[in-house]
Amino acid sequence: MDISLKRGPLKAQKTACLVVGIFAGKNLGAAAAELDKATGGVVSRLVKRGDVSGKAGETLLIPDVKGVEADRVLLAGCGRQGGVAPTEFMKTCAAVATALNSAKVRNVVSALLEVDIDGRDTAWALEQQALAVDRTAYRFTEHKTKPAAPAVSRFGVMTPADGDADLRAALKRVRALLRGLRLTRDLANRPGNVCTPTHLSETAIALAEKHGALTVQVIEEAEMEALGMGAFLSVSRGSRQPAKLIVLEYRGTGDTPPIALVGKGVTFDSGGISLKPGAGMDEMKFDMGGAASVLGTMAALAEIAPPVNVVGLIAATENLPDGNASKPGDIVTSMSGQTIEILNTDAEGRLILCDTLTYAARFEPAVVIDVATLTGACIVALGEHASGLLANDDELAAALLESGEYTGDRAWRLPLWEDYQRQLDSPFADMANVGGRSAGTVTAACFLARFTRKYRWAHLDVAGTAWNSGKNKGATGRPVPLLLDYVLRGAA
Ligand code: BES
Ligand code: MN
Ligand code: ZN
Repeated sequence: MDISLKRGPLKAQKTACLVVGIFAGKNLGAAAAELDKATGGVVSRLVKRGDVSGKAGETLLIPDVKGVEADRVLLAGCGRQGGVAPTEFMKTCAAVATALNSAKVRNVVSALLEVDIDGRDTAWALEQQALAVDRTAYRFTEHKTKPAAPAVSRFGVMTPADGDADLRAALKRVRALLRGLRLTRDLANRPGNVCTPTHLSETAIALAEKHGALTVQVIEEAEMEALGMGAFLSVSRGSRQPAKLIVLEYRGTGDTPPIALVGKGVTFDSGGISLKPGAGMDEMKFDMGGAASVLGTMAALAEIAPPVNVVGLIAATENLPDGNASKPGDIVTSMSGQTIEILNTDAEGRLILCDTLTYAARFEPAVVIDVATLTGACIVALGEHASGLLANDDELAAALLESGEYTGDRAWRLPLWEDYQRQLDSPFADMANVGGRSAGTVTAACFLARFTRKYRWAHLDVAGTAWNSGKNKGATGRPVPLLLDYVLRGAA
């Protein structure tokens, strides 16, 4: 979806649909009043009649209006004039996106930037509208032989005459964010037979070819072997697809320590010998959602070019059963030297991440953030609304929570207390790779914590947020908005 800034009289906007706000108490905003004048009072008549009240989330499509160039007008309830809560505005954006989708329009101009939002600026309002409309308009059509239903492909936003420079910068950022999100969603939606570890590495190589600020290095299995990555390789041994450890570096400034973003890239998780049940197993193609979000964030960063250094580390492999696959009870030695008893081959994410996290130390990172669809338990705990956040550093955790809150891509912190560590005790090795039924998200993070003692670290469990199940099955692109916001705040 392409976004642009628009100005001039509303009635002169040539578009398939003009979106205009109505406020609580049947108040017309400035845009609605302007439109009302141009249309001989259509808007005020509808409002008076009660067809639209101004409650956030309410919309009314007027399919044909005289006096304006636009084919249609969508009246959108925006809540109380002079200060709506950010969540209210998000509700408005979601409702507008749904209405535009039902109307099957391609070209839209929105006049919703006039809405006053508590504690948020117009840059935020621009981003939220774009995110909501783009979310509904996104289609994954690579494997469809018939054309998809039409959706919004051009989204214009009416801008007030002042505040131009801010909005120009915001526009650049939002465009990059949307492209990053698209990359993340496309990668995650691709089936496991297309999106292999090699496909992820080729994607990273293509990004580095396109952007001068990006460099890439792909570590092959032989080199992982030489590095002593026994935990990582214990997962890939059951697969015919070669594993890849992808190192994608963004350099935006001198020699300051980088932010390291580590992504779980299991391109298909069958569970391995601890085979998963068949129902819904197709969704385990999304088990590289963390990796996809790191690639999407890096792509957006390269486009925005902020003065910050970021290194993306992607652990890519399949997890399949095979004569050569790891078995329950097998013991492996990680790159850190610590030994691991693999009690369940389906707890493979932590095995590939622990060696990647050990490797991350060589970049002397300012912070390390790993992103992983790590535990089903996280879906039980938080559902689809929040990513799980666990960290060994309160300041880093607070900053990530803040970025989540600001962008609407929220996270919620869970404890990482020592008390949970004993659930990982093993009679035969330094630790087991599973911690029993209780607190599955916490014990998974406790496992990772044993490999991250040398730096400030946070873990985002995106098992519940990286994709939607059910009728709207598909990747969400989360947590790209959170990650990008966090990195850009660091650059500012
Ligand atoms: N990729 C899964 C986690 C997952 C499951 C994400 C369902 C989203 C939906 C992970 O590799 C896994 O299988 N985890 C196990 C861990 C268990 C064996 C300790 C799980 O959550 O069941
Ligand atoms: Mn698994
Ligand atoms: Zn997995």
